Amino acid sequence: MTVVTKTDTTGARLVTNAPELAPRTIARPDLLTLDQAKALSVDQMTELFKAHLNPGQLHFMKLLGFHKVKIERAEGMYYIDQNGRRILDFFGGFGSLAFGHNHPRILEARKTFQDEKRQEIAIAFMSQYATALAANLAACSPGDLDMVFLGSSGSEAMESAVKLAERAAGPKRPKIVYAENSFHGKTKGVLTITDGNLYRAEFRLTDNTVRVPFGDIDAIEQAFRTDPEIGTIVLETVQGGGGINEAPREFWQKLRQLCDQYGVIWVADEVQCGFGRTGRFYAFEHYDVVPDITALAKSLGAGKAAMAAMIAKRDIYMKAYGSPKTAMIHAMATFGGIGEACATAIEGINTLYDEGLMENAESTGAYLLQRLQALKEKYPRIIKDVRGRGCMMGLEFQDFSQTLPAVMRPVVGMLDDKLKGSLSGFVGALLLRDYDVLVAFTEYNRNVVRLLPPLIMQREHVDKLVDSLDDLLGRGVVAIVKDFVKSQVK
Ligand SMILES: Cc1ncc(COP(=O)(O)O)c(C=O)c1O
Repeated sequence: MTVVTKTDTTGARLVTNAPELAPRTIARPDLLTLDQAKALSVDQMTELFKAHLNPGQLHFMKLLGFHKVKIERAEGMYYIDQNGRRILDFFGGFGSLAFGHNHPRILEARKTFQDEKRQEIAIAFMSQYATALAANLAACSPGDLDMVFLGSSGSEAMESAVKLAERAAGPKRPKIVYAENSFHGKTKGVLTITDGNLYRAEFRLTDNTVRVPFGDIDAIEQAFRTDPEIGTIVLETVQGGGGINEAPREFWQKLRQLCDQYGVIWVADEVQCGFGRTGRFYAFEHYDVVPDITALAKSLGAGKAAMAAMIAKRDIYMKAYGSPKTAMIHAMATFGGIGEACATAIEGINTLYDEGLMENAESTGAYLLQRLQALKEKYPRIIKDVRGRGCMMGLEFQDFSQTLPAVMRPVVGMLDDKLKGSLSGFVGALLLRDYDVLVAFTEYNRNVVRLLPPLIMQREHVDKLVDSLDDLLGRGVVAIVKDFVKSQVK
């Protein structure tokens, strides 16, 4: 076709014989509307979950009885299900619900942001929200932890922490020390320092790592002394997935000293234990030490947004990305500093201080610990240990596989591997079924029930949890196991 053009009054060339394209109709697939999504029954959700999300995961939901629940609403310390049952939440979204569910101040901030039609994507222009959030995080952080990278998951924050440390340490010191039973995320980079065979599966991971027992300062010193290629150490301040493991004050003080002595960069993963959960903004503040890099996620999004941050000492940040030539090497990704999530986090941080939630975590957490310790004294043959602080606690059961009557062993042996010898699965399932209380589990230690309640928790919630546990454990291990097994064969 010959293209015919003419020139308009501005001198621009216009094509005058371009063919008219008939508008194409694109067939609409069989889509569910939002209203239909809301109205899905438990059976329909199960089918869709099986067909499109994760069929294998349903197996675990069924073990725990979670597959029967459809949440219709969530408010404060409670989920409300399809039957109007109020479920007390001591699971706390694995630590992402510091403010509980749908805190009114957070909802209001998000509504205002939407009503004002604020911008979301902060790539082209600077964002007042991303900059203010970064300033707030620097203000909450001790020492010169001043430089902030914003992302949308704990894994992403930890990836950025490890990459920053590697660049700042330099090419001659690429090795990273990490701890047994650590959990730092499942993305490919941080998988090399996440210590779980399940997660590591058969992926090909880099081998620039050195594994030490958690809390073993001698092993760390030995590693630093003998391997000059070590440039970074990464540790959760309180291990969450490992079963709520803490190290004493002397460990952290010595760690800081060794890192200074050997020039090793210390990355403190505070994704689960940070943001006020232990009664301080960061858990490392209990020990009067400051790491070189840290990371937050989970509750930073105030239970409404996917928000994560890496916070680093300025000199380390500048060494890695301080010039125009290096600035874009690991600049924020598409959703880094996204508007409404930043607004949510800003309101969240202000609420954390205004409502005294860290103080509440400390004092109500102390009450929880005291009540759990009394329970341990009452049931020494069932409860092995109670540990943690604030709104991060672990309840470890004795391994009962050897003490169970011989007749029951084959039945329990038929159950899933994850449940063998472990009371926590049975207790969690029955707490939900009979007492409307939700607790969490632990990746690496199947005998530990993890408690990560919202920081708004009150004594009445603690009483409900502990009284329920008391009543349940009072039935005795054999009755608990029998009841659970019966519920599985139904
Ligand atoms: C200590 C710690 N680091 C990192 C992560 C990864 O966070 P995310 O699941 O948001 O990627 C988690 C998640 O549980 C965590 O507990």
